[in-house]
Amino acid sequence: MKILSIETSCDETAAAIVEDGRKVLANVIASQIDLHAKTGGVVPEVAAREHVLKMMPVLNECLEVAGSDWDDIEALAITKGPGLISSLIIGTETASVISYVKAKPLIPIQHIVGHIYSNWLYVEGGANEGGEVMNEPEFPILILTVSGGHNELILMEGHHKFKVLGETRDDAAGEAFDKVARLLGLGYPGGPIISKMALSGDSARFKLPKTFLEKGSLDFSFSGLKTAVLNVVKKNEGKIDEKFKADMAASFQETVVEVLSEKLMMALMKFPQVKEVHLAGGVSANKRLREIISEKLEKLPRKFLFRHPKSFSYCTDNAAMIAAAGYYLYRSAPKKFKKKTNIIPTTSFEIW
Ligand code: KG4
Ligand code: ZN
Repeated sequence: MKILSIETSCDETAAAIVEDGRKVLANVIASQIDLHAKTGGVVPEVAAREHVLKMMPVLNECLEVAGSDWDDIEALAITKGPGLISSLIIGTETASVISYVKAKPLIPIQHIVGHIYSNWLYVEGGANEGGEVMNEPEFPILILTVSGGHNELILMEGHHKFKVLGETRDDAAGEAFDKVARLLGLGYPGGPIISKMALSGDSARFKLPKTFLEKGSLDFSFSGLKTAVLNVVKKNEGKIDEKFKADMAASFQETVVEVLSEKLMMALMKFPQVKEVHLAGGVSANKRLREIISEKLEKLPRKFLFRHPKSFSYCTDNAAMIAAAGYYLYRSAPKKFKKKTNIIPTTSFEIW
């Protein structure tokens, strides 16, 4: 069953076609990074206008890459939220019109749930990072979602059955990467730039605060860390050279990675029935984070299968993950998703 999906929650205009929830046939992403680099972050109005321009070309390219036409498509999946409302609306309106004109069922997907399903995706015969392990993930799964706007620890007990164990109380991990990059004058988005700079930096040079919150809490907080970086930057005004930036990037990254991986281990201790550990969201592209989690898991007496998305393009925002999530929801109750329907976007964070 082929599902065509659309994702426009922030600054990527994306469309994909995925077969049976896992096999990616097309994954087209028009990134707006260059546009937003000028302002050091996303200006919602600018992002929405760009989505209007890119939506139809991206959809047409997607059908072409997959060698599909509308008759091959069983249903549509669309990101309903959370995200920037002016960006979301371009995707939901487009999907609603197609649902009406082509008489296709329309499946609304929560963006974070989409990220979670990025670990189901692969390309047949393609270069699937992390090997060709194609078996279906086994429940229960413990998931660390780390993105620009969200940061959670989630227990997934079955398809679309989620328990949020912990979440960010202020800045998400990706947001902290972006803000620290901005403080250091490194550009946007911060994650990939900081992780590259960190390679040549000394992570022991700056002692930054690791916030674990109250004993046993699985919540996250990164705003204190950002302020600590700001204070060091202010103290060193006029003396900030490339070495300083690289050392700060490495120290900051190490601190974030330590907190994220430790919280993940704490959650594993609380839920020993877990079979797999997954990493999802933009920050899952971070190699140091993957490395530290792997090291910590290897030291445990019990072995857990550790997955992260099989392509870097599935880590950051994309539509393939929305199609995967859509497939498993649709399969459970196809009649629920009427033909010819329309979806109203939402900024609500709640997982449904
Ligand atoms: O999931 P995503 O594409 O968007 C949201 O849903 O928020 O995540 C984007 C975030 C940005 O904050 C970006 O800086 C971060 O993911 N990111 C990274 C890396 N690549 C992207 N953070 C750390 N290391 C990376 N390699
Ligand atoms: Zn995202």
